[in-house]
Amino acid sequence: MSNPAINLLPTIFVILGATGDLMQKKLAPSLFRLYEQKELPALFQVVGFSRDSLDDARFRHLVSDMIRAKVKGCSKQKVEEFTRFFSYQQGLFEERAGYENLASRFGMQDGEWKVCSNKLFYLAVPPQFYRTIFYQLAESGLTKPCSPTEGWTRVIVEKPFGKDLQTAQELDRLLGRLFREEQIYRIDHYLGKETVQNILAFRFANSFFEPIWNREAVESIEIKFWEDFGIGDRGIFYDGSGALRDVGQNHILQLLALFLMSNPGDFTPESIRKERARVLKALRVWRSVKDIQQMTMRGQYQGYRLEKDVDASSQTETYFRIETFLQTPRWQGVPIYLEGGKQMPESKVEVTVVFRHSAPCLCPEGGAHYKNTLRYRVQPQEAIHLSFWIKKPGAQMELEEKDFAFDYRAAFEGHDLSDAYKRLLFSVIRGDQTLFVSTEEILAGWKFVDPIVRAWEEGVTELHEYAQKSDMMVKMKLSADV
Ligand code: BG6
Repeated sequence: MSNPAINLLPTIFVILGATGDLMQKKLAPSLFRLYEQKELPALFQVVGFSRDSLDDARFRHLVSDMIRAKVKGCSKQKVEEFTRFFSYQQGLFEERAGYENLASRFGMQDGEWKVCSNKLFYLAVPPQFYRTIFYQLAESGLTKPCSPTEGWTRVIVEKPFGKDLQTAQELDRLLGRLFREEQIYRIDHYLGKETVQNILAFRFANSFFEPIWNREAVESIEIKFWEDFGIGDRGIFYDGSGALRDVGQNHILQLLALFLMSNPGDFTPESIRKERARVLKALRVWRSVKDIQQMTMRGQYQGYRLEKDVDASSQTETYFRIETFLQTPRWQGVPIYLEGGKQMPESKVEVTVVFRHSAPCLCPEGGAHYKNTLRYRVQPQEAIHLSFWIKKPGAQMELEEKDFAFDYRAAFEGHDLSDAYKRLLFSVIRGDQTLFVSTEEILAGWKFVDPIVRAWEEGVTELHEYAQKSDMMVKMKLSADV
């Protein structure tokens, strides 16, 4: 197969916040992996932009350290060869001068390449800088292609996109005034994970589940997003956010959308995004105090208030469980459980679909019914398990539960399943928005999450305290289930 990078046009990639955490942990290593696999355009430049006072040589050195710390066994020489594509522009996000300097760099580079190159702006900065940067980029004319026929400009924004529905709408209005939707790439890095991308293939390239993917056959759906660690040094961000905003409004809802969406008809980015949004818009939103008390639950791990930068009397949840429904003929009445938490007994992200037993069922009299379960493990130990019942050898009709299991890593040994950012960056460069969240999806997510968070902030449900690594919250039932 020909290398798709061969057809990629010259591109300048500007990273705003280029000395920060995201650059160090994700962007620099992922760009290097793309380079190693020859998936970057042949003419490619990265310009780091931040307030730190560095020159090109020191920036390259920094990037080289970032890559070598993350990419095991990489060749020093290859890394140095790669960092030659990097240069640095010092500037303040709120001051025009830095952006003007960027514009003159672009002019020089394009002159050297004799093209009007593509420009990519990655906002690897805390969300409070988004507004200023969007304005400055647009006002300084940087987001306008240098020619009507050649070169595009795109902006990439990290989550959180807003803090609630209102702030998301404001940000969206601003973005909408400055850029066209096809220029905006909103990241939810879960969409870049191999196993998350596979949900579409699993559902729409196989014929066995689609006919039973509905309320007649499915009894319940559950998404678990457990992490066995705490908030680390992200106290300032996390304490103002909480678990539901941090992983519920985005990652968990995206998983849900992919699992429950209908066949989009074609697999273009527009159709897929529209279909995902349709699911999120159909979520049953809980507004009344009674509903929120019955259908939601929240907890905070012991010791959370002692974490760095956390308020000593914080009411922020580090765990939640919500039961909801989709208001569509296909899914009406099927309970959906969404659960996320830090300091849980183990780390796992998993979707479980429980099927109804057949009727009449060869089930034990008076005993539990035999149900099949599909467990789709997003991470770690990426796998798909399907439980079924089988007759135990012997004279009695005694059944036992067994498992069909597919282990991703065993099946694709040597393949890299983990680097979501590599796939995301590759998609932006190619102009494929499938793995990015549309404005419709963002707003639908906030419409669902907002009333719950607000009611929690008003204290309408108890904030349970749970011991770190305990399954105490998991064992507690929602009052709707009792
Ligand atoms: C981030 C959240 O979006 O996703 C973190 O802010 C969370 O709190 C992380 O730990 C999980 O991502 P991953 O890829 O490590 O599972």
